[in-house]
Amino acid sequence: MADPQEVLAERVSAAVVAAFGASHAGADPLIRPSQFADFQANVALPLGKSLGVPPRQAAEQIVAHLDVAGICDRVEVSGPGFINLTLADRWVATQASGLLTDERLGVALADPSMKVVVDYSGPNVAKELHVGHLRATVVGDAIVRILEFLGQTVVRAAHLGDWGTPFGMLIEYTLEAGEEAASAKLATGDFTAFYQAARARFDSDEAFAERAKRRVATLQSGDPESLRLWQVLVNASMEYLHQIYARLDITLTDADMDPESFYNPMLADVCAELQDAGIAVISEGALCAFPPGFTGRDGKPVPLILRKSDGAYGYATTDTAAIRYRLVDLKATRLIYVVGSEQAQHLQMVFAVAREAGWLTDQASAEHAVIGLVTGADGKRLKTRTGEQVKLMTLIDEAVERAGRVIADRYDNPAQREQIAEAVGIGALKYGDLSVARESSYTFDYDRMLALTGNTGPYLQYATARIRSIFRRAGLDPAGAAGPVQVTAEAERALALTLLGFGRAVQQSAQTAEPHHLAGFLFDVASTFTTFYEECPVLQAEDQGVRDSRLALCALALRVLVTGLGLLGIPVPERM
Ligand code: ARG
Repeated sequence: MADPQEVLAERVSAAVVAAFGASHAGADPLIRPSQFADFQANVALPLGKSLGVPPRQAAEQIVAHLDVAGICDRVEVSGPGFINLTLADRWVATQASGLLTDERLGVALADPSMKVVVDYSGPNVAKELHVGHLRATVVGDAIVRILEFLGQTVVRAAHLGDWGTPFGMLIEYTLEAGEEAASAKLATGDFTAFYQAARARFDSDEAFAERAKRRVATLQSGDPESLRLWQVLVNASMEYLHQIYARLDITLTDADMDPESFYNPMLADVCAELQDAGIAVISEGALCAFPPGFTGRDGKPVPLILRKSDGAYGYATTDTAAIRYRLVDLKATRLIYVVGSEQAQHLQMVFAVAREAGWLTDQASAEHAVIGLVTGADGKRLKTRTGEQVKLMTLIDEAVERAGRVIADRYDNPAQREQIAEAVGIGALKYGDLSVARESSYTFDYDRMLALTGNTGPYLQYATARIRSIFRRAGLDPAGAAGPVQVTAEAERALALTLLGFGRAVQQSAQTAEPHHLAGFLFDVASTFTTFYEECPVLQAEDQGVRDSRLALCALALRVLVTGLGLLGIPVPERM
């Protein structure tokens, strides 16, 4: 076990039991990073209060029973009862050496019976992806990579919006424009123009609107000709999504698209089940569920509409069928919906209905991994100067082009430059979404995400390139660095200690479905490495043992960074 916080937690817990008895075995030792030591244990504060002894005294009693021989070389009680813990240099060095031979870099495997469905990306047929989708895609893909690295069984589900009322209008418009002309238009990937044109027809021509509505019904009842026309739209969209996913290195495949239409045959059955159970009732002609606790501004219960009064099923019906399928058929133990904050109430209602129906039990969990808004400089939804939605491909192209300018002076070989610019631009774009808490909204800003310093993709990529260049100059392979690690300077110690936290960072991101913890950790690694690099000569180190140790620290930092960036889905160029 390499994680210092875990080791200390175990020791402090044992001391609490030794000092106050087995009834306190479950008390959280509250190990936190400390300003005055490496870590501090705060357990004495709540414990003292509950025992009615001054916390300082409780802390002293814990310390009297604390066995950290060989682990810490200083233990102090401070302030109202904090226990400050300073690790021994030798322990830190030994643990870092151990990490060097650990294939998993200190990341323990999770319970393999965990089966997680991650619903992310949320693309729609005949619509372009926007920055919100990009964020849900990038964050979801990182979550998936992290969970798989832990050995959990992961089902990717993109919940492709390929069903529902707009398709009547889109099919009618396809017919009107002529199938060939429509296909040609769609092949350009300009779905927005296509969609808007269909919408304009729908809004301005009653006969068209009537036909569109009828077409929804014929499509949903399985009419072959309608299905064929619908497939034209689906195929064009899949082509477009493939392009985007490939360029961004998103791990979603065709098999993961989990289209809404897949649930179509289950909708009637789901409605019947809920109605029979009394969970859904007819209200104003529609079949609705009223899960408790959801009221509108007027104080009235909000319905989850399962079947409209005209018999049509909608988005909520599909999500209800999907959650039943995921829990009952797939037997998932955890559901993670990586979806925008504006759908919070919808998803909470779906979860509540699933609980009422007995699909979601204590054996499983469902969580909404909320994605905040990406805004323009004006604080509003990101738009182009003329007010349209920004095209994702344009956004990617611009990030890559700007990245090219950032690294321009370093490369004469155009092919190499282009390759690095692609990695840096896309890395910056993706990392911009991963480095901030996924719930918070943030301002889209090329300059900030492409900066070579600070918590950015390029900064982390640059750290790896720097380490590689050390090995290149020495004519050595990082995989051959064997250490052992020793601590002879503060910067070495800081780097080694930081690297020991990799497992914790990965686990934390997995538990919370928040990749930014891992991103923040990698930033710490890059920062402590930078200080180390500035303060500690590696190849020029006079002592052979010190040189070997520093090379080992470099190799370890490289592996942690490359593995960690891989888990976030960030490309890592060999040079920069
Ligand atoms: N297609 C939806 C949208 O663009 C997102 C789907 C999210 N997933 C879900 N199961 N509802 O808003």
